[in-house]
Amino acid sequence: MNKTVMTRTFARLLALLGLSLCGTVAHAQSFTLAPLPYPYDALAPVIDERTMQIHHGKHHQAYVDNLNKAIAAAPALSGLSLEALLAQISKSGDVVRNNGGGHWNHTFFWESMTRPGQGGAPSTELLAAITRDFGSLDQFKAAFRAAGLGRFGSGWVWLIVDANGKLKVVSTPNQDNPLMDVASERGTPLLGNDVWEHAYYLQYQNRRADYLDAWWQVVDWNLISKRYAASRK
Ligand SMILES: [Fe+2]
Repeated sequence: MNKTVMTRTFARLLALLGLSLCGTVAHAQSFTLAPLPYPYDALAPVIDERTMQIHHGKHHQAYVDNLNKAIAAAPALSGLSLEALLAQISKSGDVVRNNGGGHWNHTFFWESMTRPGQGGAPSTELLAAITRDFGSLDQFKAAFRAAGLGRFGSGWVWLIVDANGKLKVVSTPNQDNPLMDVASERGTPLLGNDVWEHAYYLQYQNRRADYLDAWWQVVDWNLISKRYAASRK
C-alpha cells in the first residue's frame, strides 16, 4: 500500500469515528434533513415539483445547516431534542429560534401533506371537535384561510389543541411556532401551512389566497386525525 492510499484509508477510518486528519473532533451534526415522504412531484398540480425541490432541498436544508452551526457554537444546547429547544427558545438567540423553528416547522409541514385527494377526511372524533369549536368544517377552513391571509409578510398558520383541549387557529411570524415559549398562543400543533412566499410564489405568484384554497387537496386528514387522537392521551 503506497503512502497516498494509506493516507486515504486512514482518513476514511477517522471520518467513520467523527474525527479529521488535523485531529479535531468534527462538528456534531445533531440534526439532519430527512427525505420527503413522497416524490417531489407528488403534490402537483397543487404544489409544483420545482417549488418542492427548492423548498425542501434549499430552504429546509439551510435551516438544518444553520441550526447545526449555531448549536456547535453553543455547547449548552447540544444534546437537546428539537422540541426541548423550542420549549425554552427564549433562552436562545434569533439564529437558533429562526433555524430551529424552520427545521421543526418544515418537517411537520411535509408530513402533513399527501398526494391530491389521498388525504381522506377528519376522523369522527376530530370532526366533532372542529364542529364544537368552529361551528363546522367549512367555518374552520374559513378561519384558517383568514389567518393565512392576515399574516403580514412571512409566517405560518396553525390548527392547535390548547392546554384545555380546545381547538384554535393561530398564526405565527417568521419561523416561530406554537411550541415555543415565546408564542402568544401555545398548544400542540395538528396542522400547519407555510405562508412564506417561497412556499407558493413560483406557481401562484402573489395569489396567496389561491394557494391556501388549493392546499386543502393535499392535506393528509388521516394523519391529522392521528395527531388529534395522540394529543388526547
Ligand atoms: Fe418554507
